[in-house]
Amino acid sequence: MSSSKTPSSTLTPPALKPLKLNSAGLGQSTTGKEKPAPVSSKLQAPKLNFALGGSKSTGSSKLATPKLSFSLGETAVKSVVKTVVKKHLKPTTWSPTTTSLVLVKRELETHDSMSFTFAAADQTLFDFKPGQFVTLAIEIEGKTHYRAYSISSVPQQKQLRLTIKRVPDGLVSNWLADNLTIGDNLSALNIAGQFNSSDCQHKSKLLLVSAGCGITPVMSIAKTLLAQDSDADIEFLHCARDKDNVIFHAEMQTLIAQHNNFKVQLLLENSDGFANFSANDNTTTNSPALAHQTGMVSKDVIQQLYPDLQDRTIFLCGPVGFMKAVENIAQESDFDMANFFQESFTPAADNKLQDNITSGASAASVMLYVPDFAVEKEVAQGSSLLELLENNGVPIIGACRAGVCGSCKCKVTSGEVKSTSSETLTAAEIEQGVVLACSSTVEGDVTVALS
Ligand code: FES
Repeated sequence: MSSSKTPSSTLTPPALKPLKLNSAGLGQSTTGKEKPAPVSSKLQAPKLNFALGGSKSTGSSKLATPKLSFSLGETAVKSVVKTVVKKHLKPTTWSPTTTSLVLVKRELETHDSMSFTFAAADQTLFDFKPGQFVTLAIEIEGKTHYRAYSISSVPQQKQLRLTIKRVPDGLVSNWLADNLTIGDNLSALNIAGQFNSSDCQHKSKLLLVSAGCGITPVMSIAKTLLAQDSDADIEFLHCARDKDNVIFHAEMQTLIAQHNNFKVQLLLENSDGFANFSANDNTTTNSPALAHQTGMVSKDVIQQLYPDLQDRTIFLCGPVGFMKAVENIAQESDFDMANFFQESFTPAADNKLQDNITSGASAASVMLYVPDFAVEKEVAQGSSLLELLENNGVPIIGACRAGVCGSCKCKVTSGEVKSTSSETLTAAEIEQGVVLACSSTVEGDVTVALS
């Protein structure tokens, strides 16, 4: 998910914060600025408020032990995964730091992506801002992993949908795809993300651009605006390799059939057989085929499709290279970048950045010290700071692992690291030595603290 945002200068620094159950805030928006989706007015259930806020993401500085139970609570940790829920769900005892989600539906979107729909155990409504992501805690073989996934559903509903794509050699996304079954529980720590249509002020004309699984948060934005009966003029450009890799194809067809103000254009690297694909898709009977063309995103394509580009606000999410290409096109088109927002962190995204960092490890040795957790270890220079901390029992949370969410903030009190991202960090934090562990490598002897 995102550089996470452009223009970052206009956004408040990120905000991983413990979940809050807003039992008194029925139907209220987190920001007070959002119009609740119409559906919310009909629902009487309490609302779960995943609020943004100040972010000592791990809260770990207060811990006396390096156990992970500090933020989840022992019960929650034990029930993270593979706890089959009984037929009659008992009300969950909500804690301020974790929420138990129950899987109620799983749907195959493409051959390698699927949507998981969760409910809160007590029918609570989920409150978030369209475009945000949720951090899940997932226990695999006795170890808890934290990952951030974009939300593809709309706020103020009883269900929360996440759409996840398999990742080559990926651990958590693939595990979820292979193992998560109806009735299983997962723990959600928080919902956050600056890339959202509530905080990013936008015009009434929008251009939503996505590629691959980057469609997930953008779809949430589109569906929310449409559900609000917004009179927004929404153009949606989605790029995919071919017809078999178009996520939400049927859903987009349904939306364009229902809303005159919503138009979709697919840009496929290979569109062979696309016409048959649309016509034969029995889930979309009576729905119009999506407009499509073959090719890669380019200045010519954008200018041809969107001659009124300058009148729109752009929300963009996809792989890093794709987003850079779109950003360049916007700049070359003299687009006002104050109206350009992007999310480079794709759900589940993977550990490509992490892998790149890891592969940069050299043979030289340096020392890693984490006094609060009695860590004093010789490590390879160039190693990922996040992996080093995780592998040495330091309870740090690496949710996005892509330098976006801010969950892995830690403080280098002495020594040297090299960082590739400072997203979410304030100038004051950088001045104090705070870094994102997922985006940092150790370059010399370092001493690290979680506060
Ligand atoms: S894990 Fe999200 S910024 Fe590091």
